[in-house]
Amino acid sequence: MAVLHRVAHRGYSAVAPENTLPALAAGVLAGATFIEFDVRTSADGVPVVIHDRTLERTTNGTGHVWERTAAELTALDAGSWFSPAYAGTPVPTLVQALDLLRPYAEIELLVEIKPPASLEQVRAILGLVAERDLLARTVVQSFDPEVVQRAGEAVPDVRRGLLREPFDADQVAVAKELGVAFCNPSVADVLAEPGTVAALADVGVAVMAWTANDPAQWPGLVAAGVSGVITDRLGELTGWATRAFPG
Ligand code: G3P
Ligand code: CA
Repeated sequence: MAVLHRVAHRGYSAVAPENTLPALAAGVLAGATFIEFDVRTSADGVPVVIHDRTLERTTNGTGHVWERTAAELTALDAGSWFSPAYAGTPVPTLVQALDLLRPYAEIELLVEIKPPASLEQVRAILGLVAERDLLARTVVQSFDPEVVQRAGEAVPDVRRGLLREPFDADQVAVAKELGVAFCNPSVADVLAEPGTVAALADVGVAVMAWTANDPAQWPGLVAAGVSGVITDRLGELTGWATRAFPG
């Protein structure tokens, strides 16, 4: 049995505020083999780690991420919404996230670029990854096929992933055309269409399902042939995987 990737979604986001340095560090401690996080670009061209287009849900700011400078974004409180224990936890820059993860050579990075993202912005993001010698440990993914295409233009040999919701009618052709290494759909899509997972595997495209937060789903996902489980509950996944795949 191949190793099952244990993917910390937005870091270990069940125990620390998503897409913050504590969440990334908690993912390391809890046994992640991949750590996923989301990247957007500030008004002054600095990549930062945050999920939503707007600031209201996870910070004390307002408006769109791309309307604020990096100095404004990194001064926000991205922790209080989750717990007072994390008050003052900032929005990290991509550089801070990369520098935190860089020492853990066995852990891979699943870097999701949120649209809109121009070729220049995608180049800047992957340039920072390359500067830190992390390209070989990185998979760059997006829901937007154009962003996936731009990542390939920026760095032709970086591994890329296409996020899907739902699977396309001809998912295998779409994945082959884009040349992706991963095609990552929802849990529901994997469980409904294990044949598509098998067809993708036949052409060398791996599947990691998101966001699998119910442990009862994990055996079914493995039976469907996924190569990884993307979850907020990374610690529990590590525990289960240790039992299910000893050694
Ligand atoms: O990596 C899969 C997952 O992150 C995609 O959805 O909305 O959490 O970025 P979202
Ligand atoms: Ca994501």
